[in-house]
Amino acid sequence: MDQVKFNSEAMHIKDHSSKHLSQETVKKLINQSQEAKKQAYCPYSKFRVGAALLTLENKVFTGCNVENACNNLGVCAERTAIFKAVSEGYRNFKAIAVASDLEDKVISPCGGCRQVLREFGSNWDVYLSKPDGSYVKKTVEELLPIPFGPEDIAMKKVDISHEC
Ligand code: THU
Repeated sequence: MDQVKFNSEAMHIKDHSSKHLSQETVKKLINQSQEAKKQAYCPYSKFRVGAALLTLENKVFTGCNVENACNNLGVCAERTAIFKAVSEGYRNFKAIAVASDLEDKVISPCGGCRQVLREFGSNWDVYLSKPDGSYVKKTVEELLPIPFGPEDIAMKKVDISHEC
């Protein structure tokens, strides 16, 4: 029962493409992700990542990676930002900017983060940036094609009642 409630809740999340974001807004969002990167707790990898997530309401939540001595407990910057926003009541997102220290390559979200972004819609934008502020824009859908998402949970399934 709880699961059904959760599904209908998840299905109300709308896609908000940020095609209309001004260059200035994009630049600001990338700057905010670079600032967030400075908070990275990454004594093991020494790989700093920052994220800045723009909500439909134009609120920005930032995040950094937070590693742990028990290494599988670490969390990525993108997920920190998403979890901060969701825990504050924000679920509709226009865009997220991600920053790292990679000089010659834009930072690309890991598979797990792509799935977490996809939970909140497929048609919104991810700005993959370099330290010089240059970026590549991708939609969540482009980063995670053929996804498994909340709508799949709600789809018709074969009858398993005789097995339960
Ligand atoms: N990391 C992120 O925070 N986001 C990404 O998009 C890629 C990887 C973190 C996880 C870990 O703390 C460090 O970077 C090295 O993998």
